[in-house]
Amino acid sequence: MSNTIDTEHDIDISIADPEISSDALDRIESTLEHGMLADGPEVRAFESEFAAYCRADDAVATSNGTTALHAALEAFGVEDGDAVVTSPFSFVASANAIRLAGATPVFADVDLETYTLDPNAVERVLEERDDVVGILPVHLYGLAADMPALCDLADDHDLFVLEDACQAHGAEIQGERVGSLGDAACFSFYPTKNMTTGEGGIVTTDREDVAERAASYVNHGRAENGTGDYEHVRLGHNYRMTSLAAAIGRTQIERLPEFNERRRENAAYYDDRLEPLALETPAEPSGYRHVYHQYTVRTDDRDALADDLDARNVDTAVYYETPIHRQPAYETVSTAAAQLPRAERAAETVLSLPVHPNLTERKRRTVVEAVADSIESQ
Ligand SMILES: Cc1ncc(COP(=O)(O)O)c(C=O)c1O
Repeated sequence: MSNTIDTEHDIDISIADPEISSDALDRIESTLEHGMLADGPEVRAFESEFAAYCRADDAVATSNGTTALHAALEAFGVEDGDAVVTSPFSFVASANAIRLAGATPVFADVDLETYTLDPNAVERVLEERDDVVGILPVHLYGLAADMPALCDLADDHDLFVLEDACQAHGAEIQGERVGSLGDAACFSFYPTKNMTTGEGGIVTTDREDVAERAASYVNHGRAENGTGDYEHVRLGHNYRMTSLAAAIGRTQIERLPEFNERRRENAAYYDDRLEPLALETPAEPSGYRHVYHQYTVRTDDRDALADDLDARNVDTAVYYETPIHRQPAYETVSTAAAQLPRAERAAETVLSLPVHPNLTERKRRTVVEAVADSIESQ
């Protein structure tokens, strides 16, 4: 499935291009024939396969990444009066999930090279507050946050760590994969992500108690052990994944390594050619494996660069123009007035270029030429 045009005379380069193979159509057909369209064996199989990929013991599939984050926070027992430290430089869902669970998001600033939570900034928050119960780092653009340092802080302060891995399927630190680095992790399978189920999400964890409570929460608080279809032991939601989404997911997880490899090849191509220019290219710290959900550059003339690329039919995007603490929906959140200069600087200067697995050589070359022409003319 591709919505890009690539003819000799008209090249239109999109920021995302989800690819669903014919295997997915076959699997959807057999799921339809089986007749179990809601939760069922296809979802259980997808959960096992995704957990195995993340090297986690368990997984609970959900309707999207936001519901995965909310269900995981409920599974940790987060409640009114609790605070959870997170990044202000993310999609709003990272902080919204904390509010949905009744807690307060507390923002700590990011590192400007990696765009992920700065452990020193988190430590300063922990020195100031005694209501923090957990840390929710975001693996932004496909790069893992500094999990070793954040997990050390969590151990020292007896906190849980919930990875927001919605943009980082397959990212690694020292050969360890996201999804198994904290107490639990959440992924999104929205169409633009490194793999998709249409809409979908999943919680991965090694903690049996968290897996049981999350599975119960996404299924109306039904009893964890499955005894009694209508026995509800806690408040819950219907956050279940459908079998059709799981059917697509099972074919996508098989192709995820290949998708990520192609993203990494595209990023290496850009690195080689863009690093000499007057703009910041993405960092991949030593020992980290970036999976380039986005290839994001930084320049003071971001808007001019975006306009120049648009004029050459190269799609770009700004993730995110407004940091979460500056969102109108956060005016009433007590921590919204925090000083977060690096998140604000990032929001003013970042621009994401097309890096999806379906970029042709010609498209990559066009992107590089358009960026070089724009930067050199500024
Ligand atoms: C960092 C991050 N967290 C959470 C989410 C929420 O996922 P979903 O859109 O599947 O609800 C997203 C999705 O864009 C995301 O990028």
